[in-house]
Amino acid sequence: MSGIAKTPAWQALSALAEHSRTVHLRQLFGADPRRFEDFSLEHDGLLLDFSKQRVSADIMAALFRLWASAEVPGWITRMRAGEPINESEGRAVLHIALRDKQPRAEVKAVLEKMRRFCSDIHGGQWRGGTNEPIRDVVNIGIGGSDLGPKMATQALAAHHQPNPRVHFVSNLDAAHLATTLARLDPRVTLFIVASKTFTTQETMTNARSARDWIVAALGESAVARHFVAVSTNLPEVAKFGIDPENAFEFWDWVGGRFSLWSAIGLPLALAIGYANFEQFLAGGHAMDEHFFNAPPAQNLPAISALLGIWNTNFLGAETLAVLPYSQSLEQFPRYLQQLEMESNGKQVGRDGMPAGVSTSPVVWGEPGTNGQHAFYQLIHQGGRLIPCDFIALKQADFALPGHHAALLANCFAQSEALMRGKTLDEACRELDATGMSADAAARLAPFKVFPGNQPSSTLLLSRLDPYTLGQLIALYEHKTFVQGIVWGLNSFDQWGVELGKQLAVRLLPMLDGRQKAAGVDSSTQGLIAACQVAQKAS
Ligand code: F6P
Repeated sequence: MSGIAKTPAWQALSALAEHSRTVHLRQLFGADPRRFEDFSLEHDGLLLDFSKQRVSADIMAALFRLWASAEVPGWITRMRAGEPINESEGRAVLHIALRDKQPRAEVKAVLEKMRRFCSDIHGGQWRGGTNEPIRDVVNIGIGGSDLGPKMATQALAAHHQPNPRVHFVSNLDAAHLATTLARLDPRVTLFIVASKTFTTQETMTNARSARDWIVAALGESAVARHFVAVSTNLPEVAKFGIDPENAFEFWDWVGGRFSLWSAIGLPLALAIGYANFEQFLAGGHAMDEHFFNAPPAQNLPAISALLGIWNTNFLGAETLAVLPYSQSLEQFPRYLQQLEMESNGKQVGRDGMPAGVSTSPVVWGEPGTNGQHAFYQLIHQGGRLIPCDFIALKQADFALPGHHAALLANCFAQSEALMRGKTLDEACRELDATGMSADAAARLAPFKVFPGNQPSSTLLLSRLDPYTLGQLIALYEHKTFVQGIVWGLNSFDQWGVELGKQLAVRLLPMLDGRQKAAGVDSSTQGLIAACQVAQKAS
């Protein structure tokens, strides 16, 4: 049994979970007319309603004891002090320093460089090889060098500058780059090659093809005016042929999936303007201050993390559905997949021993209302426990008459339906009221039963703007941090992505015919052979 599972708080939660299995959310609401007041929290324009989670005051109290048993406050202090809490990589974890009100000198210098660059692009002073201003920017990156800026750029569409248009290319599949370039004019296109390591296969392959595209159209001399880079590895940037003047640095104490606040946010700053980017940083910083200072019972990231632990470790949930009722937040679940699953999708604890408890759930989701017409059927009647995070905006970011109230009505109706469900009795009475015969109603009613008792939280943002998006992202970052601490994990390494990369390097020469397929299993050999036959035939 792992250390945390032996603590009195964990044991108390296990006992409470036994009892909780016999209690329906309907009963909890029936017994407490003030349940919303008791199980919701408002801070700086954000409202978290967790009254539809399967918790009681006793369960929350035990969860707060778990926070103390895991020594979360001590870990926060160690992170803030810059201790190398990413032990397996020997690194500090200081993305919070990127959004400090008084940033350290090196951060300040890069922010100033970003500000000047944005001003040059927006003002038309930055010219391409044919002396034309830039109209399109393509960010080439993957993982943390793509998901964060892409999600945030889409989320803040209502705040975009008139130009440039910002595009994102990540996939090694040439279809991604080729279809993007097909719509662009090299004379007015600038590429940001974004890679922490500057060695990532996908990014370097796409960057080389983009370079070929520029050189074919404008000549070698145009490269300096059409490429900038964001990286911690400036020697590799120089080797690629990008002028060091056009390189934006960040540092190894910024994890890839936490790097949106660094110069990895350059495409976002170009899309929304530098002043808005500063507001984004301010929102993140405000959430840091809240997380560091509020007691756990008043602390949005702490409560979100502890509810996730309750659902995962005590109720047995294996997934978390993230359901933004905001088309602008379409990419948010994908972004969270990396944040939560790359951080906490691990079974080896900090001490190298088995974690001994369940860790990150599978995070997935789609914006409502689209998801309602795809997978909600299973959440309602599929018989699985699927906790849901609903996210909605009090005010629409794009206002057309008749849309927003209907959107919110759907959001709140879903969480209500998931909580209440519908009994057989209710289904029968409803059918009776339509005038249906008793026989027909009895046959149909079982299909109309909803078990309910499906836990959910609803996070309401006052609106979606750079500041509130900063708050939202930092909230989930700290939630992920707290969960990693309680589960005994190092949330800041990602060894699990290495094996596939290693094997791909080994297989490439077998696929492109440089080497005979040997030393691989029969399945891999068969797949390689099938592709080689197809390639020869084409
Ligand atoms: O997926 C593994 C990973 O190392 C991520 O952690 C990172 O965000 C991504 O690859 C991209 O890495 P880089 O920014 O170094 O190209």
